[in-house]
Amino acid sequence: MKIKIGNVELQNQVILASGTVGFGLELNAMGVLDNIGAISLKTITLEPREGNPQPRIWKTPSGILNSIGLENPGVDVFLESALPLVKKFPTKLIANIGGKSIEEYVTLTQKIGDKVDLIEVNLSCPNAKGAGLAFGTNPDVVGELVSRVKAAAKVPIIVKLTSNVTDPAAIAKAAENSGADAISAINTVLAMDFDLKTGKPVFANKVAGLSGAAILPIALRVVWQMAKSVKIPIIGMGGITCADDARKFFMAGAKAVSIGTQNFVNPWIGAEIAEELEKDITKNQLRF
Ligand SMILES: Cc1cc2nc3c(=O)[nH]c(=O)nc-3n(C[C@H](O)[C@H](O)[C@H](O)COP(=O)(O)O)c2cc1C
Repeated sequence: MKIKIGNVELQNQVILASGTVGFGLELNAMGVLDNIGAISLKTITLEPREGNPQPRIWKTPSGILNSIGLENPGVDVFLESALPLVKKFPTKLIANIGGKSIEEYVTLTQKIGDKVDLIEVNLSCPNAKGAGLAFGTNPDVVGELVSRVKAAAKVPIIVKLTSNVTDPAAIAKAAENSGADAISAINTVLAMDFDLKTGKPVFANKVAGLSGAAILPIALRVVWQMAKSVKIPIIGMGGITCADDARKFFMAGAKAVSIGTQNFVNPWIGAEIAEELEKDITKNQLRF
C-alpha cells in the first residue's frame, strides 16, 4: 500500500482532497486520519481571502457545483495557528498553495519551507479571479512556474492540474519537465447552473466548479491521457465515491487517489476505501 512521492513515503495510496476537509481538525478528532496516506489542506494564499459571495455550493443531479473562491486565513495565520495543530496528525501533510503571480507561488513555497511533508501547487482553481486556473492552461507558463517553485522548495512538489484544457497531457509533461515530483488531477470541471426563480446564473461569479460522481469519467480520461505522457506519479481524483471508483484510477495509470466531495457525504470514506484496497493486496488481486 505504501507509495513514494519524491522522497516522502505515504502509508497508503489514499489522500483526502484539498478544500473538502478544511485543515482536517474535525476529521482528526474523529480518528479518520489514522489510516490515510496524506491529507491535502485547503489552499492557502499569501494574503487572507474572504472568498466569493453566497451561494457557494449548489446541488446538481450527480455532484455539486462550488464557487468558494479560495477562502482562507492567509499563509501567516496558517503557519502560526493551524500548523502546530495539523503537525500532530498521524498522516502526511500536504500544504496546497495558490497565487496571483509566479512570485506569490515562490514566496509561499519559501514561507512553508519544510514545515509540511509535501507542497501541492494549485494551478487549477476555476473560482478565484487571477489565481490558479489562469496559470494552469498554458504549458509554457506551467513550465516556468513549476521550475521556479521547485528551485525554492524544500519538500517534493505535486502540481495540481485541470481538465479544462484541450491537451491535459501536454500540461502534465511541461510540469514533469520542469521538476514536478508528482501530478494531481483533476480539479473541478468548469460548469454553471441557472436559478429558475431569478432566471440568472446561480453564482455571483457566473461559472463554478463541478465535482462528485458526475465528473468521474472525465477525470479517468484525463488521468489516462496524462499517464501515457509522464513517468512521475499521478494522484487521480474526481468523482470517487467507492473503492471500485478508486480501482479505475489505478487502471488508468494513477499511483494514488484522492477523495473530495464524497467526504461531505461520508467523512469515513477515505479510510473505508483504504481498507478495501488493502484487501486487494492481501488477496493478491491487485489489478494495477
Ligand atoms: C467545496 C470544494 C472546495 C474545493 N477547494 C479546493 C481548494 O481549495 N484547492 C484545491 O486544490 N482543490 C479544491 N477543490 C477541488 C478538490 O480538491 C478536487 O480536486 C475536486 O473536487 C474533484 O474531486 P471530487 O470529485 O472527489 O470532489 C475543492 C472542491 C470542492 C468540492
